[in-house]
Amino acid sequence: MKALQLFLLAVLTVVATGLETSQGRANDSKEGLGIVHYQPEQVHLAFGERTASEMVVTWSTRSLPPDLQVGMTTIVEYGLLEASGQSKLSQTARGTATKFVDGGRKKATQFIHRVTLRNLKPNSTYVYHCGSSYGWSSVFQFRTVPEASADWSPSLAIYGDMGNENAQSLARLQEETQRGMYDAIIHVGDFAYDMNTEDARVGDEFMRQIESVAAYLPYMVVPGNHEEKFNFSNYRARFSMPGGTENMFYSFDLGPVHFIGISTEVYYFLNYGVKSLVFQYEWLRQDLAKANLPENRRERPWIVLYGHRPMYCSNENDNDCTHSETLTRVGWPFVHMFGLEPLLYEFGVDVAIWAHEHSYERLWPIYDYKVLNGTLTDSPYEDPGAPVHLVTGSAGCKEGREPFKGKIPDWSAFHSQDYGYTRLRAHNRTHLHFEQVSDDQNGAIIDDFWLVKSKHGSYLH
Ligand SMILES: *[C@@H]1O[C@H](CO)[C@@H](O)[C@H](O)[C@H]1NC(C)=O
Ligand SMILES: *[C@@H]1O[C@H](CO)[C@@H](O)[C@H](O)[C@H]1NC(C)=O
Ligand SMILES: *[C@@H]1O[C@H](CO)[C@@H](O)[C@H](O)[C@H]1NC(C)=O
Ligand SMILES: *[C@@H]1O[C@H](CO)[C@@H](O)[C@H](O)[C@H]1NC(C)=O
Ligand SMILES: *[C@@H]1O[C@H](CO)[C@@H](O)[C@H](O)[C@H]1NC(C)=O
Ligand SMILES: [Fe+2]
Repeated sequence: MKALQLFLLAVLTVVATGLETSQGRANDSKEGLGIVHYQPEQVHLAFGERTASEMVVTWSTRSLPPDLQVGMTTIVEYGLLEASGQSKLSQTARGTATKFVDGGRKKATQFIHRVTLRNLKPNSTYVYHCGSSYGWSSVFQFRTVPEASADWSPSLAIYGDMGNENAQSLARLQEETQRGMYDAIIHVGDFAYDMNTEDARVGDEFMRQIESVAAYLPYMVVPGNHEEKFNFSNYRARFSMPGGTENMFYSFDLGPVHFIGISTEVYYFLNYGVKSLVFQYEWLRQDLAKANLPENRRERPWIVLYGHRPMYCSNENDNDCTHSETLTRVGWPFVHMFGLEPLLYEFGVDVAIWAHEHSYERLWPIYDYKVLNGTLTDSPYEDPGAPVHLVTGSAGCKEGREPFKGKIPDWSAFHSQDYGYTRLRAHNRTHLHFEQVSDDQNGAIIDDFWLVKSKHGSYLH
């Protein structure tokens, strides 16, 4: 009797294990492919909570590798690149995989793997690959940034609105990344067009495309309107920004700059609830107040904020920025609650970078439609009386370029329809340099300016 019970128990266990395994090996049969696909792909990096010593590696597998069922076995193997040019992947960091189900008709499933590398040596080059015994990615490398010191000069490439089709700037960005020109990339919303299109296949393809830069450099992001489907689910699932807000808003420090990324979309997609808007606004006020504590502003005097939809633009279309009462600028209609421009002004934000318009535009320092140039003759960007706004949404996408109005307003300093991207180099505590690269003109710099400040802080006094 006892023997029979044991026998039955054993049979049940085997059956249960078998069921679990076949579930775990979810395969592509829904797609009609009938294959199991464990190969790591779509590898990309982000700064961790500690910018100089943590890096988050994120990647995807179509199926869940079988050994993941027994615990946290998703792995990054990494090691310092020695001066000799040798490197051993001698260290191992472990993380978790989560299941992501797209909201489309096919409910396409994939597994997103995240591993945080901690206690990295600042200002050092690391070599890594990710995966496990089920399959490894290629070997990539990245460089950590120096310690929070303001005594180094970070360089970034910044743009928005880059799609899967017509990602015109990507080849140049890849080349420049591999030449070591940048410490990070900021993509100011609107990816792939759209990540959820064709049951998230377009998102997969886009993430494979940007691997050519994003596996080598922190690829920092904020959401745009093209991420909206299914409550931003593709966007939330695929990236790994710091801050614990599923990539909606966060800040990080780089040399003499405090960067803040926000979601402008919480002002527009109220169908997903107003909670996110209020939560972000309160967070932003606190983050700005903290960045303005005397010891913080002394160490990192620059505050650069980025979000997808501009407060101002001179384009010829019906987007919100072509109207005077932009929701992000003045807040809700009539009651004017949660407007962001007063915050930028009160807390002395130096630069506000936007995208959404598929063009580039630079403004004179501006607050509430008043140009507040610096007081020195011919130096509008030397100790200006208001933030400087840039719109850089021309990286390239299938929607093409955005035309400008026939008559450009007085507050607009420069505009261009060329495809391209913006470079920012924070030289030191007093000098920021911006360049606009035209990909149409073979990488020519079509606009550049210095923002110079002898003192930073609120514009109120
Ligand atoms: C894939 O799943 C289908 C049904 O879900 C199953 O019939 C098939 O055997 C599976 N293939 C593999 C390789 O696991
Ligand atoms: C970073 O390392 C390089 C050498 O690889 C060195 O020249 C540079 O001074 C270091 N920067 C800082 C801020 O430590
Ligand atoms: C959308 O996501 C946000 C943030 O997670 C959540 O607060 C909100 O309830 C969601 N909205 C809907 C309609 O599901
Ligand atoms: C700001 O400076 C620019 C460049 O010198 C100039 O063209 C513009 O008229 C100035 N605007 C105001 C309001 O002073
Ligand atoms: C800051 O950088 C600018 C531009 O490179 C340079 O002219 C200036 O002397 C630097 N200031 C300090 C204090 O190093
Ligand atoms: Fe957009």
